[in-house]
Amino acid sequence: MRNMIEVATGFQYSVNIGFDLNSDEKLKNFIPTQSALKLLEEIILSTNLNSTDRARVLIGAYGKGKSHIILTILAMLIKKDLSLFEKLLPKLKENDKLYQAVLNYYKSNNKILPVVITGSNTSIPQAFLLALQRTLAMNNMLDVMPEMILYHKS
Ligand SMILES: Nc1ncnc2c1ncn2[C@@H]1O[C@H](COP(=O)(O)OP(=O)(O)OP(=O)(O)O)[C@@H](O)[C@H]1O
Ligand SMILES: [Mg+2]
Repeated sequence: MRNMIEVATGFQYSVNIGFDLNSDEKLKNFIPTQSALKLLEEIILSTNLNSTDRARVLIGAYGKGKSHIILTILAMLIKKDLSLFEKLLPKLKENDKLYQAVLNYYKSNNKILPVVITGSNTSIPQAFLLALQRTLAMNNMLDVMPEMILYHKS
C-alpha cells in the first residue's frame, strides 16, 4: 500500500497548533502578511506586565492561516531561536518598533507558557484544567498547579 500512495512533495497540511509547536518546519515556511505582523506586534506588546488587553478572537475562512499565525506567535512567546523564523525575521527587521519589542521580550526574564486546549468532548473549564495540568506536567512545573484545581480534576 505504501508503495502505491504517496504524499506530494511540498504538500501543505493544515496546521495543528498542539502538534506543530514541537516542529520547526511550519515556522520556517511562515510567510508574514501585514495582518500577521500587526497581530504579532499587538500580542508582543500585550506581554507587558501592566497590559490589560490580552484576549483575542481570530476569525477567518477555513484554511486562511489562523492556526499558522497563532503557531508562529506562540513559538515566539516560548522564545524559540529567532533564526528559525526564516521568512518573518527580515520583515521584522524592516519594522523597527516591532523588532525592538521582540528583542526586548527575548531579553526579558518573562516567558509565557502556551496552554493549548485540544478536544471538544468536555466542558470548557474541564478542557482548560486538563490542558493546564498536561502542559505544566510536560514542563516539570506541576508544583505551581493550584491545589483547588487538582482537587477539581478528580
Ligand atoms: N502565512 C502563511 N505562510 C505560509 N503558509 C501558510 C500561511 N497561512 C496559511 N498557510 C498554510 O495554509 C494551510 C492552512 O492554514 P491553517 O491551517 O493555518 O488555516 P486555518 O485558518 O487555521 O484553517 P481552519 O479554519 O481549517 O482551522 C496550512 O498548510 C498553512 O501552513
Ligand atoms: Mg486552524
